[in-house]
Amino acid sequence: MKNIGAVILAAGKGTRMKSALPKVLHTLLNKPLLQYVVEAVAAAGIEERLVVIGHEGEMVQNAMENLAMTASCSFVKQEPQLGTAHAIQIALPRLKENCTAILVLCGDTPLLSPGLLDSFIKQFFASKAAAAVLSADLPDPHGYGRIIRNNEGGLKAIVEEKDAGLTEKAICEINSGIYCFDLKLLKTVLNDIKNDNANGEYYLSDAIAALGVQGHKVLVIDSAPAEEILGINDRLQLAAAAKILQNRINSAWMKAGVTITDPLATYIDADVSIGVDTIIEPQSFLRAGTSIGCGCKIGPATEISASSLGDGVYARHAIIIESEIGHNCDIGPFTYIRPGSKLAASVKAGHCVELKKAEIGEGSKVPHLSYVGDAVLGHGVNIGCGAITCNYDGQYKHITVIGDDAFIGSNTNFVAPVNIGARAITGAGSTITKDVPEDALAIERAEQKNIEGWALRKESKKQNDR
Ligand code: UD1
Ligand code: CA
Repeated sequence: MKNIGAVILAAGKGTRMKSALPKVLHTLLNKPLLQYVVEAVAAAGIEERLVVIGHEGEMVQNAMENLAMTASCSFVKQEPQLGTAHAIQIALPRLKENCTAILVLCGDTPLLSPGLLDSFIKQFFASKAAAAVLSADLPDPHGYGRIIRNNEGGLKAIVEEKDAGLTEKAICEINSGIYCFDLKLLKTVLNDIKNDNANGEYYLSDAIAALGVQGHKVLVIDSAPAEEILGINDRLQLAAAAKILQNRINSAWMKAGVTITDPLATYIDADVSIGVDTIIEPQSFLRAGTSIGCGCKIGPATEISASSLGDGVYARHAIIIESEIGHNCDIGPFTYIRPGSKLAASVKAGHCVELKKAEIGEGSKVPHLSYVGDAVLGHGVNIGCGAITCNYDGQYKHITVIGDDAFIGSNTNFVAPVNIGARAITGAGSTITKDVPEDALAIERAEQKNIEGWALRKESKKQNDR
């Protein structure tokens, strides 16, 4: 849609959040509120997207510019913030000349769908109205502006909660804060808006009533689903929106063939993919950029970020970050897989194992109590309990390479850089500082001394001392 531009209002302080962070940067499932709005506008086909920033504006702009977004936007600063009509006054000169209409939305309504915006805009254009507002009926309209209808059922005014009398407060039809305006006509009323209200602000909603008074057609489109237009003003609404979004995402995955044993206790970000017949157990978090194969079992209590898992992976009580996990790997419990790890098929990373930048070949096992960092392991390697890589000398990180089918004794320390040949064996408790050739046994241990009767002598000394 080339002749309509979107102006997204995000300059307000968000006082009710009681936060050092600007309201629109608060997140739902790890994505800032404002990003949802920008992406919904883009998905509705609107190419011109202008965000009005003000309070902590630089922080908002920097944060948005550093995000991986599916759509971009430009910014204009409103300083000071004198109300939504004032915000639009500042934004208008920045819009491209080919815009004949604007869609106005708030940066704090993250649950909007592109479909709702698209149909709202289409109805606005089809009606040839001067302005349109999207309204909804809410069982609890508290806090929202109320839609006051005239005798013919048209729009008479929009009255904010703070300015409303008792009869107005009883009205359940609310202003979503989403409007369309014919630009030329909007400009004829914008400068005459007054700030004689409880907040002393210039309200854009007054422009709609003013256009009506001038005899122009104004439209109220009352088809908005309540949950889509939920505005986030405080942390209770933030939590309520998170639950709605979580339900949307989890329902979609369940319909697509994924079992989620407790959807209320499962948190899946928007940008995730999951194969069929995967089972997700409670208290699991699948963060953005994660893809999970088919027939996996994830959880309970597993957190996976920006990682890819093949088919048939089992991961419970585990944290996996920016790593690749092959088919049929067995992860957990209490396993920490840090960025840059790459596990081939059928690898086991078991209880209390930490991996970092570890490349591990097919079928290799790190079953218990190990740290494997900056390491390359071949296939069929077995790492005994408690074996670790000593990869850091205080200044630099060094690599440990372990060849195919090597058998590492329990509690081996690898002082990197060090290379262990294929099929080599290390004796339990050895500290390996030198390369080990293929097929060799490396053992580094002081010889054991047995002192006969030592314990008995100790016991009789104790009794003599008493
Ligand atoms: C607003 C509407 C209300 C509607 C509700 C829907 C007004 C006056 N009221 O109320 O009718 O029911 O949204 O969620 O519009 N902003 C600026 N510059 C300013 C002031 C505000 O950019 O000078 C931005 C805010 O950052 C916010 C949006 O405008 O994104 C709306 O402001 P907010 O304070 O959240 O208004 P509400 O009280 O929610
Ligand atoms: Ca709001």
